[in-house]
Amino acid sequence: MKLQIAIDGPASAGKSTVAKLVAKKLGYVYCDTGAMYRATTYAAKKNHVAYDDDQGLKEMLEKTEIRFVPAEPEQKVFVNETEVTKTIRLPEIANNVSTVSAQKSVRADLTERQRMIAEKGGIVMDGRDIGTTVLPNAEVKIFLVASVHERAVRRFKENVEKGIDTPLDVLEKEIEERDYKDSHRKISPLTQAKDAVLVDTTSLSIEEVVAKIMEIIEKVQK
Ligand code: CDP
Ligand code: CDP
Repeated sequence: MKLQIAIDGPASAGKSTVAKLVAKKLGYVYCDTGAMYRATTYAAKKNHVAYDDDQGLKEMLEKTEIRFVPAEPEQKVFVNETEVTKTIRLPEIANNVSTVSAQKSVRADLTERQRMIAEKGGIVMDGRDIGTTVLPNAEVKIFLVASVHERAVRRFKENVEKGIDTPLDVLEKEIEERDYKDSHRKISPLTQAKDAVLVDTTSLSIEEVVAKIMEIIEKVQK
């Protein structure tokens, strides 16, 4: 049986890293829903639509195609004909995505797109509301967490590789702020689904987290 696997959790808990690896092991498709919210934020900026203009964003999305194109080492993201894989990771997008993702019309539109992508199963989808809202019937639901400090350290290390030198305490503050906004918005806030398995990755390696998740999946497949 081709399963739907939902992986949710706060920023930098390791969702996309482990979701990609789990998808590869199973031969499943990986869908990064955060990239879809980031791509929408990019489109809003480009089209001069305010990040909190619910109606304006709705109309913009009707004309906006968001596509994932398989590639190594990572899939590419396109907004209509423009490749935005790197652009959507910039601070201008990261600092405004929580505002865009809190808009009702945006959540309705992207949730619909995500359900279509996952319809036939064989999918690992990561985000904030996959287990609670997008795929409430997913056979496997994982809620990944790690301490704020550990998540800031992970971001710090990633930034060093990219030549970005934001201090650790600033990263901790940014992560706390985004956690707060994502957990307190009215529609589909970040929460653990009742039937999700909690995995604390604070002191686990990527390989250990993947092994844990594969164990959970194998139990469901039996
Ligand atoms: O990579 P990181 O964990 O920093 O974030 P992301 O997964 O790329 O998601 C970026 C933002 O999109 C989140 O902070 C949420 O505001 C929003 N998001 C959401 O609202 N629902 C989802 N299913 C996925 C992301
Ligand atoms: O998608 P999300 O924002 O939840 O996190 P990520 O971008 O997949 O991971 C953030 C960083 O943490 C990456 O650089 C990973 O290599 C690192 N990391 C991890 O994902 N899991 C661990 N157990 C340890 C480190």
